[in-house]
Amino acid sequence: MIKRFSISLDENLLAEFDDFILRRQYSNRSEAIRDLIRKSFIQDEWEAGKEVVGVISLVYDHHQYQLQERITELQHGFHHQIVSTTHIHMDHDNCLEVVIVRGKALEVRDLAEKLTAIRGVKDGNLAMSSTGEDLH
Ligand code: NI
Repeated sequence: MIKRFSISLDENLLAEFDDFILRRQYSNRSEAIRDLIRKSFIQDEWEAGKEVVGVISLVYDHHQYQLQERITELQHGFHHQIVSTTHIHMDHDNCLEVVIVRGKALEVRDLAEKLTAIRGVKDGNLAMSSTGEDLH
């Protein structure tokens, strides 16, 4: 089933887009947009399989029941991706854990999401970097 929707575009951007359509010989704007959407999805999947390095940071209260054990358990499940873990005691209650990771973007994201989702983790962030080339 085909659905229609309208797009608002700046005049100049639309003119550039129409030039692009002519150059690429698309038969109309819809066809060009469909193609661009598909390509960006492929790009996304391709990047998910790419090798990256990253830093996951977590903030949590170590008094939370079994939280430390859960975090350690989960990290052992990803020991191929984890390069190093550093634990900093921020104050009486709070800990900062910095996990340096290396692996496929998809795996690294998965680990970060699982760590952040653990109950009691107050804050979690992932920063990923890539050279744009394979790290092997
Ligand atoms: Ni601590």
